[in-house]
Amino acid sequence: MKRMLSGIKPTGQLHLGNYIGALKNFVNYQDEYEMFAFIANLHCITTAQDPNELQKNLKDCVALYLACGLDPNKATIFLQTDIKAQAQLGYIICCHTYMGELNRMTQFKDKMAKNETNLSGGLYTYPALMAADILIYDPDYVPVGDDQKQHVELTRDLAERFNNKYGELFKVPEPLISKVGARIMSLSDPSKKMSKSDDNDKGCVYLLDDLNVAKKKVMSAVTDSLANVKYDPINQPGISNLIQIYSSLSNNMPYAEIEKMFEGKGYGDFKKAVSEKVCETLSDIQEKYNNIINSDILEKTLNDGATKANLIAEEKLKKVQKALGMEIL
Ligand code: AMP
Ligand code: TRP
Repeated sequence: MKRMLSGIKPTGQLHLGNYIGALKNFVNYQDEYEMFAFIANLHCITTAQDPNELQKNLKDCVALYLACGLDPNKATIFLQTDIKAQAQLGYIICCHTYMGELNRMTQFKDKMAKNETNLSGGLYTYPALMAADILIYDPDYVPVGDDQKQHVELTRDLAERFNNKYGELFKVPEPLISKVGARIMSLSDPSKKMSKSDDNDKGCVYLLDDLNVAKKKVMSAVTDSLANVKYDPINQPGISNLIQIYSSLSNNMPYAEIEKMFEGKGYGDFKKAVSEKVCETLSDIQEKYNNIINSDILEKTLNDGATKANLIAEEKLKKVQKALGMEIL
């Protein structure tokens, strides 16, 4: 069975973009692949966090992994800090990552360009830790949204660098970006991706949003004046985003079929249909979340996941340290 690994950094509540671009795919893949899904709590602190809020978001994230359908009997689900070897390999990889490479990472560049003050060293070097998160488990594939592709490409370069210098240490993984939904855009500004760091809450549907609130957000999504439900991201970015959401929540229904269904109908009708799909999805997830959040299944899931992940990670770290001449016995 081929192996797959991915992580989410819950610095805020999980939203529809995370679900469509990442989580939903993890769930679909868990039968076909040996799936490793972790919660990147080290990556979370690369930007300032409120401790109480972070703790809640982390717990919600595990619960939402399960509520969205990840099955702990199939997938290995764990918390990044439970696997100490991951951070240690992160340091080793960081020492093999050029500053030029880190300077090129668009996520960091975007933050620099916004003139955000007090950007941390951790934020700058985080792609090296992300590479360690991945390479320590030798996955074949890394399913991520579009915004993470560049980090996975850097991971591939780093794996090859180690293999060339020290002998075969790492499998070179491939990013897996789904065709539909790899970049869900903000409902209030379809030129920006839907994001938890969105200043404007109206553009982002959270998985735990009250259904009426979610419906309102979809109904007030920014569209255009062309009055035509057509997939045309350049001229009709708002409508195209809604088509993408509708398709993804309807077993990837082809865009042409959606266009046909809503031919001659107004945007109001279409938005209503999208909001119904979104609310159906959220209501199903929330019902499961409510049953899970206070049960002991969370602890058991993380304990079992950590045990399994540690076995693999520790062995790999030893192998790397030995190859680098860092072990003395
Ligand atoms: P993050 O919440 O930034 O850790 O992202 C977790 C996963 O969700 C990553 O695979 C991202 O690429 C994906 N993701 C985040 N935002 C979006 C979005 N707006 N559309 C599609 N995928 C997304
Ligand atoms: N950087 C990813 C994000 O912000 C989260 C992440 C951390 C990740 N480590 C990973 C994703 C390893 C895939 C594999 O979304």
